[in-house]
Amino acid sequence: MMETPPRLKLDRVSKLFGGVHALTDLSLEVAPRQIVGVIGPNGAGKTTTFNVITGAYRASSGTVTLDGHAVTGEAPYRIARAGIMRTFQNIRLFADMTVWEHLLVAQPHTGSALQRLLPTRLSNPQAIERAREVLEFFELGDVRNRIARSLPYGLQRKVEMARAVTARPKLLLLDEPVAGMNRDEAETIRTLMLKLRDDGLSILLIEHDMAFVMNLCDYLYVLDFGVLIAQGAPNEVRTNPAVLDAYLGQAD
Ligand SMILES: Nc1ncnc2c1ncn2[C@@H]1O[C@H](COP(=O)(O)OP(=O)(O)O)[C@@H](O)[C@H]1O
Ligand SMILES: [Mg+2]
Repeated sequence: MMETPPRLKLDRVSKLFGGVHALTDLSLEVAPRQIVGVIGPNGAGKTTTFNVITGAYRASSGTVTLDGHAVTGEAPYRIARAGIMRTFQNIRLFADMTVWEHLLVAQPHTGSALQRLLPTRLSNPQAIERAREVLEFFELGDVRNRIARSLPYGLQRKVEMARAVTARPKLLLLDEPVAGMNRDEAETIRTLMLKLRDDGLSILLIEHDMAFVMNLCDYLYVLDFGVLIAQGAPNEVRTNPAVLDAYLGQAD
């Protein structure tokens, strides 16, 4: 019997910026319905990992596969269409668009086409139905007609996550989804992620803060200076001396 391939697989991925080794031979896997965390101090290469997966950066070497199909070197819009959606460490919402409009245009397309798409989406019953579903799931109904960028920070992060989910991705990449949130907001996001996982989504999550990932992730990868220094179940990683060193060594 053929084994099911992992949803996402990175095989010895490296990324150099001039002389800087942002990532060195990183291999990792995310199984279907798994929540996997990538943690590590500032500058460890976490966001670079997302940029390589989504095609924003071209890997210097190594391969990225989604459900066994190579996506390495593909254009970002093709990788999005293949089923990988992301959020950004620094929130990137569209100017002058309401929450509802964000959900209507939330399909894998290039930025330039998005604004032009809106009129067609506004009258597309399937797009409307999906937007309603996601609006309800994320409990954003009360703010649906607000300009997304005018909302409090925590809600903006939620809108960004909702937009990514609307496109029905197979894999969701979240870059520090609870950064700047208070404890209650973070707990809401944690609950939503668990529900999304139960609905069949795989999630790869970047987090600076170890405490948050500890009771959420099924598995953790720890990066330091672009190198994988540990991996395993949260409880194993927590007590790993190399991980403790990396975190104690950082200035902030
Ligand atoms: N576009 C870029 N050009 C040059 N260096 C970069 C670029 N993006 C990231 N880096 C460098 O790569 C390293 C990893 O950065 P990053 O992936 O953003 O870390 P993290 O998200 O873990 O904080 C850092 O040394 C950073 O300065
Ligand atoms: Mg980062």
